[in-house]
Amino acid sequence: MSIDTLPSIDWMSEDFQTDVERACAAIAPHQKGPGLVRSDRGIEIVNYALALSVVRDARFSLAMPSRLRTIGIPDGAAARSFLNFLFSREGVDHVRARKACAPWFTASGAEKLREQTRAWVNQWLDESNSERADFDFLGLLSNRLPSTLFCLMIGAPLSDAGFIQHMSEEMMLLTAPPAPGNAERIEDAAIKTQAYLLDQAEQRRRKPGADLLSHMVGVEATGAIDTDDILAVVFNALVGSTDTTSSQICLNLQALAANPDQWRLLKENPALVSKAVMELLRYNPGAWSVQRSPFDEMEFEGLRITPEDTLFPAVFAGNNDPAAFPEPRRLDIEREHAVTPLNFGTGRHGCLGRMITLMEQEEVLLAVTRKWKSCTVLDADFSGKMFALAPQSFRVSFVPDSE
Ligand code: HEM
Repeated sequence: MSIDTLPSIDWMSEDFQTDVERACAAIAPHQKGPGLVRSDRGIEIVNYALALSVVRDARFSLAMPSRLRTIGIPDGAAARSFLNFLFSREGVDHVRARKACAPWFTASGAEKLREQTRAWVNQWLDESNSERADFDFLGLLSNRLPSTLFCLMIGAPLSDAGFIQHMSEEMMLLTAPPAPGNAERIEDAAIKTQAYLLDQAEQRRRKPGADLLSHMVGVEATGAIDTDDILAVVFNALVGSTDTTSSQICLNLQALAANPDQWRLLKENPALVSKAVMELLRYNPGAWSVQRSPFDEMEFEGLRITPEDTLFPAVFAGNNDPAAFPEPRRLDIEREHAVTPLNFGTGRHGCLGRMITLMEQEEVLLAVTRKWKSCTVLDADFSGKMFALAPQSFRVSFVPDSE
C-alpha cells in the first residue's frame, strides 16, 4: 500500500496550531481505524497503541538527520553537536553515555534537588509580589526555574540561567516550522552553547564540585567516557530540560485554572500532586509529537517505508485516545492511568530527566495551590506547532484565600 492512500490532514491548519481541544476533535475520526494519517510533514500516528509501539520499536531512530534536513542545518559543527546528542546515539555509544550519568537522573537524584527547587519557587512568588492583579508567570517563574536548576545541576553560576534559557529557546526552533533565518539562529546557538559547556567542563576538571558535570569529568578521568560523551548528556539535557518544562508548567496552570474544582481538590489534598502532574501532562501536553524514521526499508502497517520517511507518534492524540484514557477531555487529578501517557517516550531513549521535571512541576503546583484560592489566566500566547508549544506570554491573576 502506498502512503498516498492514507487519509490526509493539514497539519499546518488552525486546528493543529495551539489548541489541544480542536486538535483532538480533528483527529478523533482517525483514531478508530488503523490510526495512520498523512500530512505534509510525514505519517502521523494518532492512536495510543500504535504510537506507543512505534516509540519503543528499536527498528526506528529518533530521526535527527531528517530534523536537521527539514530545518536546513548544513553539515558542520552545529549539526555534529546535535548528531552527538544522547537522543541521536544508538548502541554502545548511547548506552555508555547514558549509564555514566544515570545516578543523577533517578528518583532519588531528583529528590536531592527538591528542597532547593521549593525554596526558589516560594522565594520568587513572594519576591515578585504575586498578589498583584497581573502576574507575568512566564518571566517571573516558569522560564526561570528550569534554567536555574540546570545551572545548579552542572555547577555553573546561577546567574548564567538567562543565557541557558535564551540558548535553549533558540535551539528549540528545531521544533518549529522551517522559517527564514531559523537555521542560522539554531547553528549560532549550538556553537555558543557547545563552547560554553566545554568551558564549564574545563573549570570542573580544575576544581570539581558535587554536581553532574564534575561527576562526568570524574568518569572521563577513569577513561570510561570521553568529552563527546559528556556533551551528549549535558548538551542534550540543556536543550531537553528548559523550554519543555517551562511550557508544561504554564499549561498545567492553565488547565487547573480552567477547572477550579480540581484546583480546590489539590489545595485540600496536596498528596494528590504526583497524580495531578501526570494527569495534567496527559491532558495538555507541551510536546505534541515525537519523531521516528526506520533505520532500513521495512513493512509497516501494510506500507513500504524507507529511512527517508518520517513518522510522528502524536503525543496529544495518544494521550486523548478514548481507548486508552476513557473520557479523555475530562481533567481528573485523581484518575488512575491504566497506561502511561506518551509525554516522555519510553524504552531506550525514554526521557532521562523525567523525574526532575516531574519534581519541578509538582513543586510549582504545590506552591500556587497552597498560596491561592484560584487563578485566572489573563493572557496565554502559545506559539509552536509541529512538535511543541512554546509560550510567548503567560499572564495570570491569583485570588487570595481571603477573598
Ligand atoms: C516536560 C518536560 C519534558 C518532556 C515533555 C520531555 C520529553 C522527552 C521525550 C519525549 C524524550 C524521548 C524522545 C523520543 O522518544 O523521541 C526525551 C528524552 C530526553 N530527555 Fe526529556 N523531557 C522533559 C524534560 C527533561 C529534563 C528536565 C531533562 C534533563 C534534566 C531531559 C533530558 C532528556 C534527555 C537527555 C533525553 C534523551 C534520552 C536518550 O536519548 O537516551 N528531559 N525527553
